[in-house]
Amino acid sequence: MITINVTTRDGDTSIIEADTGQSLMEALRNEDIEGIDAFCGGSCACATCHVYMDDGWLSKLKEQEEDECDLLDDSDVQQGNSRLSCQIHLTNALNNITVTIPPEE
Ligand code: FES
Repeated sequence: MITINVTTRDGDTSIIEADTGQSLMEALRNEDIEGIDAFCGGSCACATCHVYMDDGWLSKLKEQEEDECDLLDDSDVQQGNSRLSCQIHLTNALNNITVTIPPEE
């Protein structure tokens, strides 16, 4: 189990526990975090799992694939720390990861 710190769209913070081996999207969706609709089920086709990575976590992640870059480029709320949470696979190295849910587009 690892811990994920989430800042919601309301600005509230939640701490959730998640099993490794699943995606960050699955962990957030399982907790019904608003803004994580994940309509495509994690196949990198919808961008409804968009998160901002906080506190230097971005550099600890695997590089974005082209599909992820293209989807994020279409987002009106993309930032330099944007990622699609379905493309982030949880490992023990990501314990205490901190993410923020972007505003609604
Ligand atoms: S769930 Fe659709 S792109 Fe991540």
